[in-house]
Amino acid sequence: MTNIRLYGDPVLRQRAQPVTKFNSNLRQLLQDMAGSMYNASGVGLAAPQIGELLRVVIIDIGEGLLTMVNPEIIAAEGEDIGVEGCLSLPGIIGDVPRSSKITVRAFDKEGRIQQISGEGLLARAIQHELDHLDGILFIDRAQNIRPCTNEQDNGEDEG
Ligand code: NI
Repeated sequence: MTNIRLYGDPVLRQRAQPVTKFNSNLRQLLQDMAGSMYNASGVGLAAPQIGELLRVVIIDIGEGLLTMVNPEIIAAEGEDIGVEGCLSLPGIIGDVPRSSKITVRAFDKEGRIQQISGEGLLARAIQHELDHLDGILFIDRAQNIRPCTNEQDNGEDEG
């Protein structure tokens, strides 16, 4: 488990680089990320959030762990506004417009190409995490940013 970088850390505003080697370093990174995400009870985490400027994202909305390496959104439709929070910005939430359905192409940890489609919370979580790879935070897109005092009201996506 590695500490999650918090707002103000410049690494959160940098663009992450593509992964070129599917090796033990990547597997170790994915393990560290999963440890940090589950420890913080998040539904997603991007590598820059633990200080690694690589295009790697993990997501678990309660349906199993998804791993996305070098992800790209290849289709998007609709728009929903939903509540989001972020493990790098504890204590605040906001209402963020996102595409309601998306399809992503990404590599898995073995370097196999995969296509993932999602809607609702999964689509939202994926878009939130992919933003992190470009140094974008949910507050850049959010309306009505507000303190989050209730543990039960962490937002739909805490990643
Ligand atoms: Ni986040």
